[in-house]
Amino acid sequence: MIEKIKQYQKEFESRIATVGPGEELRQLRTDFLGKKGLVTQVMKNMRELSSDQKREVGRHVNELKNWIESQLNEKAEGLKGPSETAGGSTFDTTLPGRKEARGSLHPITQVMEEIIAVFVSLGFQVAEGPEVESDYYNFEALNIPKDHPARDMQDTFYIGGDKVLRTHTSPVQIRVMEKQQPPLRIIAPGKVYRCDSDISHTPMFHQIEGLMVDQGVAFSDLKGVMNIFVHQIFGEKTKVRFRPSFFPFTCPSAEVDIQCVMCSGKGCRVCSQSGWLEILGAGMVDPAVFGFVHYDPEKWTGFAFGMGIERIAMLKYGINDIRLFFENDLRFLQQF
Ligand code: DAH
Repeated sequence: MIEKIKQYQKEFESRIATVGPGEELRQLRTDFLGKKGLVTQVMKNMRELSSDQKREVGRHVNELKNWIESQLNEKAEGLKGPSETAGGSTFDTTLPGRKEARGSLHPITQVMEEIIAVFVSLGFQVAEGPEVESDYYNFEALNIPKDHPARDMQDTFYIGGDKVLRTHTSPVQIRVMEKQQPPLRIIAPGKVYRCDSDISHTPMFHQIEGLMVDQGVAFSDLKGVMNIFVHQIFGEKTKVRFRPSFFPFTCPSAEVDIQCVMCSGKGCRVCSQSGWLEILGAGMVDPAVFGFVHYDPEKWTGFAFGMGIERIAMLKYGINDIRLFFENDLRFLQQF
């Protein structure tokens, strides 16, 4: 019997070395200490022994039983705490899990959606056009002929044939007017490309284009819509001013300034002491443009405008370097 006890001890030793947690560990306990377990069997068989033998064997069985008990408890503790992974590194199974990192919208997307919401509330519909654009839509139909000096204003990426990366969102005006008859009110947000890179220019940036065509649309309508837009984005008290300017596709053309958001018009470094900041270009649609899309300029008039979203976002949040938008430094992005 003593032989058997020793054999069981060996058997237990080899099994506990590889036992897993939970059900496996419970099974091991049952196999040795359960009602029909090996240790229990030995104890039952002791009945047939003489009292001397009983004492002798009893001592061994008790020792084995206590030892198995403590081994099982130790193992149970061990399996709960740090354990070895296949790779050999330890991990603490009692640590709380790592939370899923939550993203948020890029500040440019946020400002873009904010601007879109303003115009949608005024009845404008969102339109889109391709970023790889033909010379015709990007220039020609916007009244910018091949030899026109206005082509110099935009550092175009030519990508072969008559294709360019669109330098502005204005070509969407033409695409919409080709397909739709007036009256219409659209805004066209999207990416545009220019071969330019410094503290206030990146080769890719975003614009929002606007176009309204109807009977009797006047410059005063443009002013009204621009006022609403500025007041919603920069605050009710922000003053707006129109300066005469030139764009080939609008006549008359204007640049729209807002009172400097940094110094409230007193004059500072950001506004070059002028008290004003330029935020967009606009004007009345040139009849020549209507000619390209076969709208009757005697019947219809319209206004158009275009703005850079990065510029609006920089002014709104006091960001001094446009490249911050594209470096994807989380310390920057998380502030929005
Ligand atoms: N497309 C012009 C640019 O990128 C901006 C612009 C000016 C758009 C006047 C317009 C407009 O629709 O009427 O510089």
